[in-house]
Amino acid sequence: MPDLTPDDIYRHEPMPQSQDEARARHESNRAAWNEGAAMYTAGIDEAIAFLKAGQSNLHPVERSYLAPLLPQVKTAIHLQCASGRDTLSLWNEGVPRVIGVDISDVHIANARQITAALNAPAEWYRCDLLDTPHELDGAADLVYTGRGAMCWINDLDGWAGVVTRLLKPGGYLSLFDDHPASWLFNLEAETYQYDNIDFFNHADSGLGWPSTYIGDQAGPLEQQSRKYECLWPIARIVQALLERGLVLRHLGEHPDPYWEVFPNLKPELRGKIPLTFSLLAQKERA
Ligand SMILES: C[S@@+](CC[C@H](N)C(=O)[O-])C[C@H]1O[C@@H](n2cnc3c(N)ncnc32)[C@H](O)[C@@H]1O
Repeated sequence: MPDLTPDDIYRHEPMPQSQDEARARHESNRAAWNEGAAMYTAGIDEAIAFLKAGQSNLHPVERSYLAPLLPQVKTAIHLQCASGRDTLSLWNEGVPRVIGVDISDVHIANARQITAALNAPAEWYRCDLLDTPHELDGAADLVYTGRGAMCWINDLDGWAGVVTRLLKPGGYLSLFDDHPASWLFNLEAETYQYDNIDFFNHADSGLGWPSTYIGDQAGPLEQQSRKYECLWPIARIVQALLERGLVLRHLGEHPDPYWEVFPNLKPELRGKIPLTFSLLAQKERA
């Protein structure tokens, strides 16, 4: 393979112009996530021990608004469930039926392995979330997602439609994710350094993973698959959900990270911009 150029490693892309284009980008992301999931495969034993000990990965921000709801949740569907640690945390939180959906073959194989070790009654679907099977329509008291999910969605309206069809009347969507403002700045810099991002119209593609996340565990850069991401302003996400008839119940912006973002930032600058947001939306009762 010829040497990689800077453009191969990172470039701005037009926003996807059609559902077909979004799906093609998702397929490339599937291949990339099969590589990136190696980091999770290496952590399977630790994940089993964590979950066997009855622990939960629920973030304190999520707990603040989900705790009153969880006792009523009989079925939770986790969109973009990765290797299932967060899905099975919901089971440890007392949700009797948990279902995970993810595009990555390796992640779903990992989730099945963890489930077998726990003898957990979890169900897993490997598919583009846009193709989540219709047999799950109306099944969810809770659709749970986030923590690195929205950036991979290349069809926001399609995503909002899937969320809505999966929910029971009265069911909730919980979304806790990276704040789009955090995209504006260079991830590796010591200060907030504007990274030439158009907040209102930004998609990109590239190779490689953040050093504090998957790093070089996805294999040599020149053999990696291309990842396609989009920046979705919170207003666009909320609007997509409102247009599907969901009712906004909670919206929060937080300085609290859920991963080691901006690892080199000067300590005095921490907490000055929102790193995450949280959202709870409800499908109206019939
Ligand atoms: C950052 S990870 C989520 C991390 C997760 N919160 C965890 O347990 O660590 C993003 C996940 O989205 C999945 N994904 C990306 N695009 C997808 C799509 N179109 N449909 C379903 N899953 C997708 C990836 O395979 C990956 O597992």
